[in-house]
Amino acid sequence: MPQVSLHPFTGVEGRALFRAASSIHVDVYAEPLFGGHPFFSEEAFEQRFTMAVEQPGFEIIFARQDDGTDVALMYGYTLTQELRWWDEVRWQPDVMRTLPGGYTDEDGTRTVVIPEILVRRPYRRAGIARTMHDDFMARRKEERAGLRVLPDNLPARAAYLAWGWSTVGTVCPVPQAPTYECMVKNLH
Ligand SMILES: CC(C)(COP(=O)(O)OP(=O)(O)OC[C@H]1O[C@@H](n2cnc3c(N)ncnc32)[C@H](O)[C@@H]1OP(=O)(O)O)[C@@H](O)C(=O)NCCC(=O)NCCS
Repeated sequence: MPQVSLHPFTGVEGRALFRAASSIHVDVYAEPLFGGHPFFSEEAFEQRFTMAVEQPGFEIIFARQDDGTDVALMYGYTLTQELRWWDEVRWQPDVMRTLPGGYTDEDGTRTVVIPEILVRRPYRRAGIARTMHDDFMARRKEERAGLRVLPDNLPARAAYLAWGWSTVGTVCPVPQAPTYECMVKNLH
């Protein structure tokens, strides 16, 4: 792995980190895979990030080089019922058949969601995302984790499948968003 160290921050500190996070977000979401979709604009990201830092259990990790350059980030937070994170999921039939009653009920302790894992392009395929992911997950107390990934985002899908995540359905979280795959991972 390139010489990077991990720097985790929680909610209060996280609020001050929008500019640092946005710098990576702008860089990564300019890539052709994301097609200049307005859902990935800096303004839309600021709204989502501002909401995220207010959530319980918010943590953001930056992977930083010795010269102070942030090369990657990931963040997540704990779901509350008010966020209705599962509401728009179209479950795969096999998953639907085996879904335990109350699976989507949230009490503020059950599920951590990870809205972003972003590595600047020159630093990819060197284990940085994996290192951040494992570090983040090791501190979580929730039962399970959830995320959304674009179906044609092959590097991210490959990574998540290799790290024990499973696809449970598809979801278009808000009308202006693209359709994602919804993935989950049991933590304990
Ligand atoms: C997805 C992403 C975060 C992976 O970051 P990374 O630091 O390159 O990932 P790692 O080096 O830890 O790779 C972990 C595993 O992911 C898979 N993987 C990563 N890139 C891949 C690629 N281009 N093709 C196939 N598999 C890939 C492999 O299984 C890899 O393990 P391996 O190198 O031992 O084979 C990075 O490609 C990225 O930032 N992409 C753009 C933003 C994005 O799509 N984020 C996810 C949003 S949901």
